[in-house]
Amino acid sequence: MWGLMLSQATSIPWLFCLIRSYSNTSLSTGSVSLTKSENGCEWIGGEAEKELAEFYPKDAEGAMPIAYIWARTIQCEGPGCGAEVPVTRSLWLARKGNRCVALQLIPQKSRKCIDLRIIVKQRDSWVDQAEPHARIDNPRFEGTAKRGSVTCPCCGYTTPVTSVRRQLKKRNGGANDAKLLCVVRMRPNQAGRIFQLPQSFDIEAINRAAEELRRREHHHKGRLSLVPDESLPVMSGVFNAPIYGHNTWGSLFTPRQSLALSTLARLISEAAGKLEKEIADKELVTAVQTCLGFNFSRVADLSNSLCGWKLDVQCPTHLFARQAIPMTWDFAESVCISQSSGSWSVMTERFASILLNIGADWSVGHVQQSSATNHPLPDGSAIAFITDPPYYNAVPYADLSDFFYVWFRRMLGDKYPELFATSLTPKDEEACQMAGWDAVRYAHKDSKWFEQQMGRALSEGRRVLNPRGIGTVVFAHKSTVGWEALLQALIDAGWIITASWPIDTEMDTRLRARDSAALASSVHLVCRPRENPDGSIRTDEVGDWRDILQELPRRIQEWMPRLAEEGVVGADAIFACLGPALEIFSRYSKVEKASGQTVSLREYLEHVWAAVAKEALATVFEGADASGFEEDARLTAMWLWTLFAGQTGANGSDNDEAEEEESEETDSKQSGYVLEYDAARKIAQGLGAHLESLPSLVEIKGETATLLSVAERTRRLFGREDAASPTKAQKKKKAQLQLGFVSELEQAEEAGSWGSKGVPPQGVTVLDRVHQSMILFAAGRAEALRRFLVDEGVGRDERFWRLAQVLSYLYPSASEERRWIDGVLARKKGLGF
Ligand SMILES: C[S@@+](CC[C@H](N)C(=O)[O-])C[C@H]1O[C@@H](n2cnc3c(N)ncnc32)[C@H](O)[C@@H]1O
Ligand SMILES: [Zn+2]
Repeated sequence: MWGLMLSQATSIPWLFCLIRSYSNTSLSTGSVSLTKSENGCEWIGGEAEKELAEFYPKDAEGAMPIAYIWARTIQCEGPGCGAEVPVTRSLWLARKGNRCVALQLIPQKSRKCIDLRIIVKQRDSWVDQAEPHARIDNPRFEGTAKRGSVTCPCCGYTTPVTSVRRQLKKRNGGANDAKLLCVVRMRPNQAGRIFQLPQSFDIEAINRAAEELRRREHHHKGRLSLVPDESLPVMSGVFNAPIYGHNTWGSLFTPRQSLALSTLARLISEAAGKLEKEIADKELVTAVQTCLGFNFSRVADLSNSLCGWKLDVQCPTHLFARQAIPMTWDFAESVCISQSSGSWSVMTERFASILLNIGADWSVGHVQQSSATNHPLPDGSAIAFITDPPYYNAVPYADLSDFFYVWFRRMLGDKYPELFATSLTPKDEEACQMAGWDAVRYAHKDSKWFEQQMGRALSEGRRVLNPRGIGTVVFAHKSTVGWEALLQALIDAGWIITASWPIDTEMDTRLRARDSAALASSVHLVCRPRENPDGSIRTDEVGDWRDILQELPRRIQEWMPRLAEEGVVGADAIFACLGPALEIFSRYSKVEKASGQTVSLREYLEHVWAAVAKEALATVFEGADASGFEEDARLTAMWLWTLFAGQTGANGSDNDEAEEEESEETDSKQSGYVLEYDAARKIAQGLGAHLESLPSLVEIKGETATLLSVAERTRRLFGREDAASPTKAQKKKKAQLQLGFVSELEQAEEAGSWGSKGVPPQGVTVLDRVHQSMILFAAGRAEALRRFLVDEGVGRDERFWRLAQVLSYLYPSASEERRWIDGVLARKKGLGF
């Protein structure tokens, strides 16, 4: 990605010159000459339409296609069956408000195939779209594929994932001969999509496109193939499509997509001739072409066989919603000559609006590509060093960027010979921990190697920076272990960390937002060189451990309120405190205890976490003395604050579609609140609590720690510890019903015989008792709740209500827990407290 990013940076200022000189109206009116210019995007769009329109036919009423929905197919391996089965995850086509449309698979045993029908919801029933009077009872919405294996609608046999893989592998992933399930069209000047079963002219157009592609490939004379034939590596866990036979970059596209993209790529190359007639400056022409190339990249991101279909907006989704190349069984093909998502014209408009938003008031700089570990700048020459470094094995950037690079090289390789010298992006110098993904190419790139490279890059940054200069290092990750290694590298490289600020740099996409412990923003560390007057790194200053430990809590106390004022709370605040905390430590080349023993950064960070946790807890309890509560209450409060403070409506999905699509994933996930184990351990430690000693509250599994939901605590809280653990099926059912704990409560009631008149046994801690009352409320046991709070005197403990209040603030607003705790609080007055 480096090459692309650098060239982007070089060309944008040029583009502004172009916009300024060629715009008919001023920038402030919002009109962009780039889109209107005879020579730029519009010319390409027009030419593409002339060449490609016949391959995207309108229907008899003149409705234009905006997308096609496909499924790869396999042959059922059931005994004697052999039906061609479309591999789909879901049969939904549209799902938003009242608009519900879906496909139905109609098995044709004798013909060994599956026919299709489109059904639509009318009020409470489903009907066949083609025969609206024909009611469809019990429609099915789940597709044929589940976790990679495929169940045949004709015979019910499930072809296992290994066979599915083998079959698709033989057919290069199966995008080329996928089955067209549905065509989505729009009528001129009408909103709303029309879903149609494929008609013969649709299939003919697809065949003609494949033929045309073959013809062009045959006549193609370029040095590089028309459609990228460079290889696409298997990288276990991140590049899964190659496991199914997608082993060239070109294989990710259907023949019609390849035809469309290779047409656009050629037109972008040819645009130079057109542009040169109007623009004398050749570099400016290249700059414009480069922008057209970026536009192309965005079209390609939305025009490949790994694009999904979004049910609410009814548009294709782009491949790089995740930084991976995952397999997608059923996919949506956008129409590059339409006016809809994924088209050339829509992308052009977006691109132009980005440029307009950046504004035109900036100066031209010089950009050069180099490895961060070997900088071309002389010592002390830069006034600022700003880096957003890679992070362990978070993203395989260079391999991913090949998706764009191979096309770029075809379009503009001759304009940037040094950037496109190799057939794929250079990867030797890429700092990333990749051994686990690809032990063949990257055996040496383990975490140690990554840390070494990062150390080198940070030293280089320190070397090129002027002693009075400033550095910024972006961190956007949640693993605390990773933080420690990188911070150590920063200190070792001669930097003093002076501040840290979280900045919203990430789009709040669904995939990311679901990630329970993710930071809401990237933390920007601000640093300065630790220098002697002669510019060498200072290595003689020894810090006194006692002084540092005294200064630390004061510093955190100053910062937390300042952060809160800026709206920085929760996990973001914890990480944002690291900067000021580290300043105290990193101003010395080493820190020693009275015994002369050197203090490691790791040891110091344990103290930082403790100080931060303590201060955060004081914030949560708003001055009330948190020390009156047992460790479980303090830990619960901090845990929820870390995850949810500053978020609104967290934890509840507001999107049915998301739930439907991801039901498979959520099934296997436990409920409760998940944190990375190491972060949870540090928070607990800071509060003087120990995760391992709280098994009735926290479940630890591998790298994660889960704060159990209140419902999950039912058995433990009501004295049924001896009961057998629920089976997997029971657990699943419980999750579905949400109220499964009620039956557990009933069993406990019987076992403890406190049913109609008795009183539930009191939990040991205040938190236990608050949770018990929440469960009684949730189960509708108003009388038992009254006896518990009033007769037993649980409600007379002031701490009970204080904790309830705090939890009401901390539980996510859409959660069951929030509803229950508010229910208990609402009874406070009525019960006389
Ligand atoms: C976190 S990303 C930066 C993302 C960028 N700030 C953005 O918003 O698009 C880290 C980048 O560092 C690049 N990188 C990795 N090793 C490098 C090296 N040795 N020299 C220069 N860049 C490197 C990766 O390829 C990746 O593009
Ligand atoms: Zn079958």
